[in-house]
Amino acid sequence: MWMQQGLQACVWRGRVWESLGKCYLTTCRAVILPRFGGPEVLEVREDVALPELGASEVLVRTHAIGVNPLDLRMRGGYGRSLFEPLLPLVIGRDVSGEVMQLGSSVQHFQIGQQVFGALQPTATQGTYSNYAILNEEQLAQKPDNVSHIEAAAIPFAALTAWRALRSTAQIKKGQKVLVMGGGGAVGLSAIQLARSAECYVACTCGKQSMERVKEAGAEEAIDYTTPNINLQFKDRFDVVLDTIGLPETEAAGTKLLQRGGHYLTLQGETVALADVYGLVAGGAAAAAVLFRKQVQYRQQYGIDYWWTIMRTDAEALEEIARLIKNGQLRVPVGHILPLEEAAEAHRVIERKKAHGKVVLEVKDSIATPS
Ligand SMILES: NC(=O)c1ccc[n+]([C@@H]2O[C@H](COP(=O)([O-])OP(=O)(O)OC[C@H]3O[C@@H](n4cnc5c(N)ncnc54)[C@H](OP(=O)(O)O)[C@@H]3O)[C@@H](O)[C@H]2O)c1
Repeated sequence: MWMQQGLQACVWRGRVWESLGKCYLTTCRAVILPRFGGPEVLEVREDVALPELGASEVLVRTHAIGVNPLDLRMRGGYGRSLFEPLLPLVIGRDVSGEVMQLGSSVQHFQIGQQVFGALQPTATQGTYSNYAILNEEQLAQKPDNVSHIEAAAIPFAALTAWRALRSTAQIKKGQKVLVMGGGGAVGLSAIQLARSAECYVACTCGKQSMERVKEAGAEEAIDYTTPNINLQFKDRFDVVLDTIGLPETEAAGTKLLQRGGHYLTLQGETVALADVYGLVAGGAAAAAVLFRKQVQYRQQYGIDYWWTIMRTDAEALEEIARLIKNGQLRVPVGHILPLEEAAEAHRVIERKKAHGKVVLEVKDSIATPS
């Protein structure tokens, strides 16, 4: 992999060789998942091979990496049907940093540009590294009014909320949206996206998140430990986004919809079933479970039932960047740790000690121009 002449010479903690006046970066410093397990299995390695840059790909020198619940689940073996044969691998989805190199067909970015973005859930080379490779469709210019740390907290969560509310439920001005789990990164993004679409927004959240969800724009917030939570809401909703996906939140959420409404859960069963039965049989079993639930809820309540999965979407990311720039979208950061302390970052989340997003900071990936 080669780097532009202007940035050649020395890349700290990445192996470089020079040829015909060009510099080639072949390795990076990364946090590796060698096997599934607890936070202790994560290893920091200096000489992790960087794949060849594809035509539509961008090499990003990372400044900050948001830690997502998916990273912890992958570390524990979630998605093993897909990821186990590929171990050791680099985990991580979110990134904010600087463009270092462009694939031959990349049109929308320039070297040195400050960018942020996220990989899709199935990506096999993640972002816990001082250099990450993303498709140009997975990146947007980082708005100047947020730092790399703040930017790295947003894309995976906001794109998940976008997929549910904008792409699937197609929320419209004046509709009523309920976000179950409004205090998390996806929940807060969903509240802000729904408000920016001029919807009425209610949510459930923990006591400590009440102020935060109101600041994000929720007009109504109910503590999720309240008994008979359904009775707390006066009206029925057009859309319920359930970020929690427990049997009790599903039972409550589906009952709170009016006929023709959409219930969307982030906790679909496709991956879990594929992990038990393999990709083919598990995929078929998941399709059968989803179909049965869709029929059941349509007959019972007249509602649409969906499993939502984050999907990268260039137009959505552009719109997310615009909302950030306008001050309409933020995900609060609760904890910042160096990349090398990724295992501790996972522990902080597991102990539920981070009230806000946990972000890894990359301090030493400085390329020194010659
Ligand atoms: N399907 C997909 O593609 C996809 C994509 C992204 C995330 N997810 C999943 O969606 C979930 C949320 O992700 P995230 O990034 O938002 O996580 P997060 O930032 O860690 O937030 C989780 C939040 O859940 C809240 N919570 C826990 N139990 C609750 C309950 N019974 N009712 C209401 N709120 C409850 C907590 O709120 P308080 O702090 O207020 O207690 C916590 O802040 C995770 O399970 C994640 O794996 C799925």
